[in-house]
Amino acid sequence: MFKVAVIGASGLLGRALVDELAQQAGWRVVATAFSRPGRNTVALDIRDARAVEQFVEREVPDALVIAAAERRPDVCEHNPALARALNVDAVRTLAAAAKRRGAWTLSISTDYVFDGAHPPYRHDSAPAPLNAYGHSKLEGERALAESTDLGCVLRLPLLYGPIVAWAESAVTSLVPAIAASASREGNAAAMDAWAIRYPTFTPDVAFAIRQMLERHARGDAIRGIVQWSGDEPMNKYEIAVRLAEALQLDAQLTPQHTPTDATPRPHNCHLASDRLAALGIGRRTPFDVAIRQVLAAFPWRGEAAA
Ligand SMILES: NC(=O)c1ccc[n+]([C@@H]2O[C@H](COP(=O)([O-])OP(=O)(O)OC[C@H]3O[C@@H](n4cnc5c(N)ncnc54)[C@H](OP(=O)(O)O)[C@@H]3O)[C@@H](O)[C@H]2O)c1
Repeated sequence: MFKVAVIGASGLLGRALVDELAQQAGWRVVATAFSRPGRNTVALDIRDARAVEQFVEREVPDALVIAAAERRPDVCEHNPALARALNVDAVRTLAAAAKRRGAWTLSISTDYVFDGAHPPYRHDSAPAPLNAYGHSKLEGERALAESTDLGCVLRLPLLYGPIVAWAESAVTSLVPAIAASASREGNAAAMDAWAIRYPTFTPDVAFAIRQMLERHARGDAIRGIVQWSGDEPMNKYEIAVRLAEALQLDAQLTPQHTPTDATPRPHNCHLASDRLAALGIGRRTPFDVAIRQVLAAFPWRGEAAA
């Protein structure tokens, strides 16, 4: 039996990954959560080094996927200690514990390790993060490399997929404002048309991670840094237009051509996915198909922003 520990299984990516891995015959998944433990999850605070070590010693997984993180740039900016504890120190503790047991560690990172000025970015392009989130994730990548030689970093861009709240993804978080702009008394909603993003569907990422785990199970683990990205460039205004179409809402949207975020964000961090593609790894569901699946499973009922 091949055993995979998914750390952060209650999150946007973690849930998609557990769904994907549950279909694998002969595999066992141990899923952890923090504030949202479920029936089939183990409660684990990854800031608690002793609890992390005990978890790995008890479960002895063959592979450990770290999908837990603090990924909200504004929170990282205002609470760098929390960002460091989750995105750096916990990665070090988890990877070191996994190494002692001979387990492969896959740690999820972000395109925000780049400054966004000179895309596309390869896995070996020079990182230059613009904000505290990007800095913490870059340090987390280095912590992984220092802690284990049986580890891999997977960098990802903007994610969307099946949600439990609109705010869970920067794609679906636009829905309440789009819907409000379409109401009778609604005012036009301004949407960022400056930053270029490559929205990437979490079930596609989960599929790629499953393929990476299969390689490890065959004794051919991928090491170092890899990247995966959707291939449809869009700004938030364009995402909003496509969401409005999918929701059949007559939205009033206006493009905002200059950045307005309090936390600096990169312009275009397009990630080259060629290292994984050369291994035959990856799948891309078209945005318009994937977003309709997401919206069908979590329909807009006019509720307040969740
Ligand atoms: N979302 C994006 O657009 C995006 C883009 C690029 C890269 N990434 C990266 O992808 C990975 C997954 O992101 P995501 O969007 O799935 O994040 P998410 O939805 O915010 O989920 C975060 C996960 O971390 C867990 N967690 C938080 N604090 C914890 C603690 N103290 N101990 C243990 N677990 C804790 C949460 O558990 P509870 O919910 O149970 O508290 C949850 O399972 C992260 O590494 C992120 O940096 C995300």
